[in-house]
Amino acid sequence: MQHGSLPPAPTPSAADPATGTPAAPAAKAPAEKAQQSLYGGVTSRRVTVRDLAGAKRRGERWPMLTAYDAPTAAIFDEAGIPVLLVGDSAGNCHLGYENTVPVTMDEMVMMSASVVRGTKRALIVADLPFGSYQESPQQALHNAVRLMKEAGVGAVKLEGGERSAAATELMVQAGVPVMAHLGLTPQSVHAFGGYPVQGRGDEAAHQLLRDAKTAEAAGAFALVLEAVPAELAAQVTASLHIPTVGIGAGAGCDAQVLVWTDMAGLTGGRVPSFVKQYADLRSTLGDAARAFSADVIGAAFPAEEHTFH
Ligand code: KIV
Repeated sequence: MQHGSLPPAPTPSAADPATGTPAAPAAKAPAEKAQQSLYGGVTSRRVTVRDLAGAKRRGERWPMLTAYDAPTAAIFDEAGIPVLLVGDSAGNCHLGYENTVPVTMDEMVMMSASVVRGTKRALIVADLPFGSYQESPQQALHNAVRLMKEAGVGAVKLEGGERSAAATELMVQAGVPVMAHLGLTPQSVHAFGGYPVQGRGDEAAHQLLRDAKTAEAAGAFALVLEAVPAELAAQVTASLHIPTVGIGAGAGCDAQVLVWTDMAGLTGGRVPSFVKQYADLRSTLGDAARAFSADVIGAAFPAEEHTFH
């Protein structure tokens, strides 16, 4: 099934196993189709990692967006985005840091909890920020448990393949669903000396393939591939049973993720060339603020209809 055939949001006519309400007979064929797709069928619970495994088996593509607060997450949930990532991209896209490195566990817990509160259906995945899992597998498990117990997320993400395999294994054994992240791993910005494309050349490509296989063997349920050549991402995708989630990794991945402030045109300054911008919120909000300011200065606001007597 192709991406375009995903139902955009839960439909009231689909059979609801929680209430037993049957689907209308005329809607039977689409409902049957919807039962099979990631965001159709059962509307009374969140998407799970099992649903994502099913989508991979069916060849069904799915979208993921980042979210950092409740109202934005609610909009994306209602729009039918099945997986939301509380990414540590919040560092530069939401919290005003230069990059992801300074983001703390307390900040991740606070943002993740608000995203969980704002949503009903999406699987919420939270990033383990820099310094919260590299010391030991036990440190990783401790912080993943914080994100699950204090914020209520359904899964965590960490960067690295072979270097994070022991941490992934321990978390998975403890019942924590883990998403891995390879290629351009932004927490290593200082080691990379910027944000260069990864996996170019035979040696780097082989290492990335080894990292991907290791992450899968360690129990990861999905794998983000960031800024890698499309041919390599397609090769990794074909060689894994778990879904790959591409960002700047071409069309051959099972899923695609974008940072929401980039895709909605809220980010100031330069955005990566792999981003497609679907809105221009920076202009929209700027125009609204300027119009409000002009109304206040010109005494056009508040008008009679905004006034109590
Ligand atoms: O932090 C983040 O938003 C991410 C995505 C770019 C995948 O890791």
